[in-house]
Amino acid sequence: MAIPEEIINEIKYRNDIETVIAPYVNLKRQGKNLKGLCPFHNEKTPSFTVYPENGSFYCFGCGVGGDVFSFVRQIENLDYIDAVKLLAERSGVTLPQDGYDDSMQKLKNTIFEINHKAGKFYHQYLLSPEGKWALDYLTGRGLSIATIKHFGLGAAPDGWDNLIKHLKSKGYSIADMIQANVVGKSQRGTYYDRFRKRVMFPIINIRGKVIGFSGRAMPGDDKAGGKYVNTSDTPVYKKSENLFAMNFAKNHCDERVILVEGNMDVISLHQAGFQNTVAALGTAFTDEQAKLLSRYTKEIVLIMDSDAAGQKAVRRAGEILQNTGLEIRVVVLPDGKDPDEYIKKNGAARFKALLEGAASEIEYKLLTAVDGIDVTQDDGKLKYLAHAAEIIAESNDVMTRDLYIGRLSDKYGVSRTALETKVNDLRKRKIKQYEKKVFDEVTRPKIDKSDVNPEKRIYPAAVAAEETVLAVLLQHPDFYKIAAEQLKVEDVISTVNRRIYKALCECIELGRNPDLSYFGEMLSAAEMGYLASLANSEKGDKNPLVVLKDCIKVILDEGVKIKTKDVKSMTVDDWAENLQQIINSKKKGENYNGRK
Ligand code: UTP
Ligand code: MN
Repeated sequence: MAIPEEIINEIKYRNDIETVIAPYVNLKRQGKNLKGLCPFHNEKTPSFTVYPENGSFYCFGCGVGGDVFSFVRQIENLDYIDAVKLLAERSGVTLPQDGYDDSMQKLKNTIFEINHKAGKFYHQYLLSPEGKWALDYLTGRGLSIATIKHFGLGAAPDGWDNLIKHLKSKGYSIADMIQANVVGKSQRGTYYDRFRKRVMFPIINIRGKVIGFSGRAMPGDDKAGGKYVNTSDTPVYKKSENLFAMNFAKNHCDERVILVEGNMDVISLHQAGFQNTVAALGTAFTDEQAKLLSRYTKEIVLIMDSDAAGQKAVRRAGEILQNTGLEIRVVVLPDGKDPDEYIKKNGAARFKALLEGAASEIEYKLLTAVDGIDVTQDDGKLKYLAHAAEIIAESNDVMTRDLYIGRLSDKYGVSRTALETKVNDLRKRKIKQYEKKVFDEVTRPKIDKSDVNPEKRIYPAAVAAEETVLAVLLQHPDFYKIAAEQLKVEDVISTVNRRIYKALCECIELGRNPDLSYFGEMLSAAEMGYLASLANSEKGDKNPLVVLKDCIKVILDEGVKIKTKDVKSMTVDDWAENLQQIINSKKKGENYNGRK
């Protein structure tokens, strides 16, 4: 969705950058700018700078930067459109689709309202005398009233149309109630409340909106038809993309998140002080859920009961998490207890100890690698050890490798040296593969999120000149004609800068001022930081026109050099030296410790 320029400007006008940032950062005036401690990384001396003049910010410490939208996007963990929406809502600007023509957006808003009203209805019923049966059940399971209120828990009354009547009285149509999936339609064509005589858990998204429900039947209710009834996917809810309690956990999981199976487990862990706990919503843990978590945390601790289904879920989760780069650890609770029962029986301190001692990923892999192999037989034993050696070889830490080599050689009665030799062979192979990968990466550069312009390593002079050109043009758009005559978009060597330059040209041609907000939708958060640093750099402060022309010349000259001196024309020695340099610089950058 492209939001019209006037609207963006209006939102920006009503949300000046100082006021937006002030609640998050203690800003002190310094000349015409403001400085404070960066909210995006840990620091003791302020390097986070706000530039009211052009409505931007930039942190010299971590490179985060951009305009008001970038700030909100990153501090509230939203995407670009949601950040725009949030600032629009806050300052009373109506986005076009809220006013007309976007029927999907309208429907979504209606569903949000219905969910909100339904949640309130269930909650009030729970706390009313009629809801005593449900409240007794929840308090009987150890939940405090404060916890019940915190999670907005509720209860659905017994009966077919309590909610229907309530929502009707608030003016909602049956069709919208069905879209929200709180009401169903029978084969006979009658409508009914989907949740009846159940304890209700509202599902709340990261922006704090109720997107669905999970309803648990009373124990022993044979007529209930299923222990849980959940909201199916609706226009505002996809269970594969959400996690129960993520709205709370997102603020407590910088270091780690605890993933459990059940809603009740989540609630009782939060009550016991583990507010970084979430649950998959009655699905197998999905890639989207893993991706969501990877935006907020570094490590996931999976807590599962020790039954077979739990083990299977753990393995699946392990696969997914491997793709996200998050650390994972697995805690298997003793005697098939679930976390809720465990913590009630043993207390928070015991549970914490269990968490801290959670088996490492490598230990878990070694444990599960035995599955399906008969290690009482020699050939099975060898097969397992070969697999185990591969698992151990993955660790970059020599102590860790040593520890597990020792344990396995004791346990399976093979010599330590034999196992160690095997592991070392595998590591050598791995290092070779790594070096090949490094070579492939530098010879075929691609953009990496943490490294906005990786081509800078290969063409340092050209990229530096490009950055200056962009900086000058962002600060002096009136020089655009001169630049455009001499420097064509295709002449720009690095991919990111070419994209930025192209957008910049289009922006100025349209007669718009090239402020950062113009780029908000097309650039990633990291690229916005890069652009903010250029817009506020001193590169164009002195003699900008001369600097601009010089830099364009550098880019063009470098372009010619690159084209004429390609790899084929190098001597073997040139080529080897060039490669070595590239690999060295890459290694320094990545701190690769594989050769120890
Ligand atoms: P559990 O059966 O372990 O339930 O299912 P629980 O949450 O621990 O509930 P208590 O402790 O018995 O009250 C784990 C999760 O699987 C989903 C729910 O999300 C539940 O929290 N589930 C389970 C369903 O979606 N449908 C079901 O019929 C059962
Ligand atoms: Mn349970």
